[in-house]
Amino acid sequence: MHTILHGTGIEHELSIIRAASTPMNEFRQAMYRIGLHLAVEVSKHLPHEERTVTTPLTTTKAHVVSGEIVLIPVLRAGLGLLDAFLHIMPSAKVGFEGLRRNEESLIAEEYYSNLPSANASTTFIVLDPMIATGGSLSTTLTKLTALPHTAIIAAGVIAAPEGLATIERNHPRAHVIVGALDDHLNDVGYIVPGLGDAGDRLFGTE
Ligand code: PRP
Ligand code: URA
Repeated sequence: MHTILHGTGIEHELSIIRAASTPMNEFRQAMYRIGLHLAVEVSKHLPHEERTVTTPLTTTKAHVVSGEIVLIPVLRAGLGLLDAFLHIMPSAKVGFEGLRRNEESLIAEEYYSNLPSANASTTFIVLDPMIATGGSLSTTLTKLTALPHTAIIAAGVIAAPEGLATIERNHPRAHVIVGALDDHLNDVGYIVPGLGDAGDRLFGTE
């Protein structure tokens, strides 16, 4: 299952991060604002339970988030979304999954992992801005699926149709929420039109 964000606000921010002329600091800020759009959308799909709240006037029923949330930014580029998600979900725990795509084989290789303990009420939210072949996200989802949880949601900024198809084939129960679905992958595994290398643009590397 997937959801693609729509509307002028998110499209405006995407136009900033897509432009090759956008400097690193403005790229980071727009990525943060896109993270807010994504986090609000993800928050609509969190498991919840009913509570009775006493207002100054009466009591009323309210829905509150149930269980614990664990955010998993996929290093490095997922860090660009983390602060925004923590603003919307301040009680979330954070785990880290370090994956580097081998630029020849396009296979994601793990170089770091540090995940908090999980239980049957845990909702994992994976932050991976670019879903290109889908290999990095798929590797992460496979790892999380083996842990106790109640739901897994993935948030991305731009997906390629090929990557989304891979996730939906390998992980049909995961909900993927993205800012845009682009046209295709080029022959070196970059999303077109895309934005280039998200990690490099966020952190000034090449
Ligand atoms: C990028 C990006 C995704 C991955 C997507 O990471 O941040 O995690 O590629 O590609 P895929 O869907 O084909 O796996 P990269 O390996 O470049 O590392 P970085 O974030 O450290 O730059
Ligand atoms: N990773 C990126 O950062 N960009 C792409 O287009 C593909 C993978």
